[in-house]
Amino acid sequence: MLYARTPYARQMQEPIEQPIQFDHRHHTRDEGIDCRYCHNTVDKSPSASIPPTQLCLNCHSQIWNKSPLLEQVRQSFIQNKPIEWRRVNKVGEFAYFNHAIHVNKGVGCVSCHGRVDEMPAVEKGEPLTMGFCLNCHRHPERYLRPVSEVTNMAWKPDGDQEEVGRRLIVENNVHTRQSCTTCHR
Ligand code: HEC
Ligand code: HEC
Ligand code: HEC
Ligand code: HEC
Ligand code: HEC
Repeated sequence: MLYARTPYARQMQEPIEQPIQFDHRHHTRDEGIDCRYCHNTVDKSPSASIPPTQLCLNCHSQIWNKSPLLEQVRQSFIQNKPIEWRRVNKVGEFAYFNHAIHVNKGVGCVSCHGRVDEMPAVEKGEPLTMGFCLNCHRHPERYLRPVSEVTNMAWKPDGDQEEVGRRLIVENNVHTRQSCTTCHR
């Protein structure tokens, strides 16, 4: 059990080979596109969603439209076959997770996914084990931020995090959720 919880065994450092080299650095950091432009259900539903090919072409019918790096994107569109992105983050079927509730209560993407804007290929940024989830559920004040900053990868609290966090707990009506049925339904 101990071994199974080390970062290595949780595949945190192993980049996953994707069908297309999609680089978040060039889309979020350099271009400043908000996460929600592509993961557009993240604040509305349990799943964040991966964008369909059509959305890539909103830009790439103009930008880099001859690049070989984007040939597969064009083919996916022409043949009407979705790109088969490989899954990076996953919790067991027996655990329930919901993006919207976190994002709308001021839990930033970076708290669970790390600095995605600095990853040439997305890796698992945090272990996503039960201990990891519970650590925050017990002490949300250590992690909360204003809801307007959830996709800001570089946000820093103005002052002491726990003080800011305690204020946000009241403002956003945040509860500590530790009962088993919160996540095992
Ligand atoms: C231009 C579109 C686009 C933007 C903007 C974007 N992403 Fe993504 N994201 C993707 C695509 C496409 C994938 C699937 C391919 C991959 O994993 O690299 C993905 C994958 C991911 C994954 C891994 C999904 C899994 O399988 O577990 C995470 C986490 C993620 N994005 C977070 C973010 C965050 C955080 C931001 C904002 C800082 C962001 N993304 C901005 C397109 C985008
Ligand atoms: C809002 C506009 C926009 C959207 C939407 C967008 N891209 Fe891009 N993409 C860019 C820009 C701008 C560049 C050039 C970045 C540079 O030169 O640094 C780029 C570059 C790329 C490259 C070239 C290699 C690299 O990373 O620099 C690939 C591959 C790519 N995008 C794939 C995708 C895929 C796949 C999607 C859909 C999931 C997508 N893009 C959606 C704007 C966009
Ligand atoms: C509280 C932790 C947490 C936060 C905050 C969070 N995620 Fe996730 N994310 C997860 C977990 C856990 C999974 C795996 C979900 C599963 O297995 O069903 C995941 C999966 C994903 C995926 C893969 C597709 C999916 O929905 O399963 C994307 C993309 C993603 N997250 C993007 C984001 C973005 C963008 C943000 C911020 C706006 C964000 N996440 C905030 C924990 C989080
Ligand atoms: C960085 C902080 C943080 C992390 C990490 C985190 N959560 Fe949460 N979670 C919260 C907050 C804050 C809420 C909102 C609590 C409230 O006010 O109801 C929440 C709510 C939830 C809820 C909804 C509770 C309900 O009854 O409506 C579920 C389910 C949940 N989290 C599952 C998870 C799982 C599974 C993980 C680990 C993969 C996780 N969370 C990781 C902060 C976190
Ligand atoms: C905040 C969410 C959350 C709460 C609350 C929670 N769990 Fe979990 N639990 C998880 C996640 C996430 C996993 C691991 C899923 C994975 O490894 O993919 C997990 C895994 C487990 C496992 C599988 C063995 C293991 O350790 O990996 C058991 C058994 C379990 N939980 C029991 C409980 C019991 C009993 C409680 C109440 C005392 C509880 N859980 C409360 C999220 C939660």
